[in-house]
Amino acid sequence: MELIRNIFCIKAIDWDIANFHGYSTPFGTTYNGYLIRGEKNILIDTAKYYCENEFFEKIENILPVDRIDFVISNHAEMDHSGLIEKVIAKSNATLICSPKGKENLEKHFHKKFEKIIAVENGQILSLGNTTFQFFHTPMVHWPDSMCAYFIDKKILFSSDAFGQHFAGAEFFADEVGSDIIFREARKYYANIVNPYGAAVRKTLAAISGLQIEMILPAHGLIWRKPDDIKNIVNKYSAWASNQSGEKVLIIYETMWGSTKKMAEKCYIEAVKRNYKAEMFNLDIRDISDIVAEMPEAKIVLFGSSILHGQILPKMAGLLTYLTGLRFEKRKAWTFGSYGWARSSFERFEALVKAAGFEMPCNGYYVQFVPDENSIQTLIKQLKSGIFDPSQQQEHL
Ligand code: FEO
Repeated sequence: MELIRNIFCIKAIDWDIANFHGYSTPFGTTYNGYLIRGEKNILIDTAKYYCENEFFEKIENILPVDRIDFVISNHAEMDHSGLIEKVIAKSNATLICSPKGKENLEKHFHKKFEKIIAVENGQILSLGNTTFQFFHTPMVHWPDSMCAYFIDKKILFSSDAFGQHFAGAEFFADEVGSDIIFREARKYYANIVNPYGAAVRKTLAAISGLQIEMILPAHGLIWRKPDDIKNIVNKYSAWASNQSGEKVLIIYETMWGSTKKMAEKCYIEAVKRNYKAEMFNLDIRDISDIVAEMPEAKIVLFGSSILHGQILPKMAGLLTYLTGLRFEKRKAWTFGSYGWARSSFERFEALVKAAGFEMPCNGYYVQFVPDENSIQTLIKQLKSGIFDPSQQQEHL
């Protein structure tokens, strides 16, 4: 696909991938390489190893692979660098990457690349009739990450930043519903980039002076409409500051339905207070979809039953995952049902706190099955402990 004259998207489409190292990808994904044809032919990023045939055939539709002069590697992770060695073997191209990228690519491929340029942060490099400026973006989201700004055309090759896992016939974000693509961008940010907010803020500051007419990410669709570019940059800025949202999320795992009953009551009470509330049953919902909603959350209610003296395993997995993702500025509360090991909930609360949530009070736990008295206590504790008293109650 020729995006603009002599700039092509070489999109390897992974239609079948449904799980990207634990992240659910119901729309599949793409690994976007970009080819610039000119006095020097330049390939920006490659694709996963098993996309070899598609990737090389798409290049060959434009020019023979052996005519590639430079390969820019914005990021050493193998979904983008998996075919670099093969491209270079066919073309004898010069590899361009960050100094950390050089180190990491050498470790991935267990070899030294003979023709390699490790560019400094901010370095400007002319390659034939094209000029690039390179910006190191360490921890967005690997230490080696960088963006390449094609000065002549005001195009930012942004690597994983601003990407989405979205496979389809479309090339541009404005070709699909904005709700869909911004939600996928949020899911991507929340699951992949969120721990690195400070690094994202530095990257946004570094590119803030650039005129950007197109953002070409390494996954998903391209941002080309000025309003979309402004929007996605603004959203990254908000997400990077870890601002809390407005929603109440009720996330639970249940054995015999008691914790579910408590979760449903939490939901009703949240709605009565005009909160935007959403429920997630961990037996059914994927944790990466739950995490996608975390940037929108103000309060998170976690519920679990107790089994073998522990919270249930999917809740434990979610809390471990959230600990790595480092969300901040969100309040949490816990609830659940137990048989005889009530003290196990102390560990539950400790795990929630370790995942970065502020718990203004202890949770509420019921032995076996909640009766009407315990439901009334649950409501009372929700109201006094976690819900904002200024949040107006309305009648359903
Ligand atoms: Fe899409 Fe960090 O690789």
